[in-house]
Amino acid sequence: MAAVGSAVGLGNIWRFPYEAGQNGGGAFLLIYLLCVLVMGIPTLLAEMTLGRMAKTNSVEAFRRVSKHPVFSRIGYLGVLSCLLILGFYTVVAGWTFQYMWESVSGGIVGGTTEQFAQSFVDFSTSPFQPLFWTLLMLVFTHLIIIGGVQKGIERASKLMMPLLFVLLVVLCVNSLMLDGAREGLLFLFKPDFSAIDSGVVLSAMGQAFFSLSLGAGVMITYASYFEKEVNMPRTATTVALLDTSVALLAGIVIFPAVFTFGIQPTQGPNLVFVTLPNIFAQLPWGSVWSFIFFLLLALASITSLISLHQVVTAYVEEEFRVSNRKAALIVTCAAGVLTVFASLSLGVLNDLRVGGMCLFDLLDFVTAKIMMPVGSLLLCVFMGWRLEKSALLNELTNYGTLRWRWAKVFVVVLKYVVPILVTLIFVNELGVFKF
Ligand code: TRP
Repeated sequence: MAAVGSAVGLGNIWRFPYEAGQNGGGAFLLIYLLCVLVMGIPTLLAEMTLGRMAKTNSVEAFRRVSKHPVFSRIGYLGVLSCLLILGFYTVVAGWTFQYMWESVSGGIVGGTTEQFAQSFVDFSTSPFQPLFWTLLMLVFTHLIIIGGVQKGIERASKLMMPLLFVLLVVLCVNSLMLDGAREGLLFLFKPDFSAIDSGVVLSAMGQAFFSLSLGAGVMITYASYFEKEVNMPRTATTVALLDTSVALLAGIVIFPAVFTFGIQPTQGPNLVFVTLPNIFAQLPWGSVWSFIFFLLLALASITSLISLHQVVTAYVEEEFRVSNRKAALIVTCAAGVLTVFASLSLGVLNDLRVGGMCLFDLLDFVTAKIMMPVGSLLLCVFMGWRLEKSALLNELTNYGTLRWRWAKVFVVVLKYVVPILVTLIFVNELGVFKF
């Protein structure tokens, strides 16, 4: 449940619909599903295998399993990625809190599309309001983390994830009754093969990695808490299946509404924060729908935030031999500083730019487009080429007690398929070479 909680987040509900909207709907979905199947599940399984084999934080895991001077340091990249992702992800998560509050306090009801768009810009660029919500989100995450792995994370995940599913299904039913339901569903599920180009393929691959929380040590850390009986191939498949279902449900909630109210599916990142309040306002009981939706988004982001936080906390705790509370506090403070600057970088500090990007965009860019693909690539190369094949297969099959008929295919995918495909994304996204 916690692994599902990490995977399911803003990536599914906010990023997936807008990426699908910008990349041709059905065509994007088709390639995305292929990416999850061909690269996502194998990489997820590779992280889990390493985590349970090493039974320690993601930095130490590589060190313990590899004696190689380069491979033993791969873990640092993941911990750093998580800290940097925390820096901007918490900001977006804070916005969901704000919108939840505004739904009931009357801040979002009424107004035109332009007014909603403007109020989003005003809010996200103002100095204090978003900081308040962002830091509140961080405090929440901190409190769950210091509850410990089982009491805190498990309890929170077990409560929040099923609730999320129920809420999504309720919203789906609502959307399916809208006039534009047919058009919305056709857009999402009917692939227009002529729309498939290299950009669509690469966006879909990037989305698959982000959505499954890969390449940053999350699944290594979580799998270090697995029992030795856990069936990892099945667990990895389940996580991927649930994560994909949530993305699909989110699509089914959003696209019918988008077509009903004549909104462009190609809106981009502000689709959720600008368009949905507009849609909700036109629905009967709009503020209730709006509240439910943003509550959902907030829950989804908290369980992802927990995973990001726990990777860094587990590292600090075990590496520097400090208590869980102290480690969590250090991480919260570090993330807090980053978050404050990331949030302010959209407003008062917007002129402070590196490579043309403000801090918020820079954190997003550096993690999603550089560090995560490199992290996944190194992981797969390590697991496929460096690790003894027998050690890999033993861990994977619980020392032969489990039969998994894809094991051989899995090894080939780790050695060749993932490294080659990830290299393509990486090279393309950096713009070194455009396919
Ligand atoms: N997968 C989450 C989402 O879809 C985000 C996330 C959580 C993440 N932990 C991560 C992304 C680690 C990359 C790496 O919203």
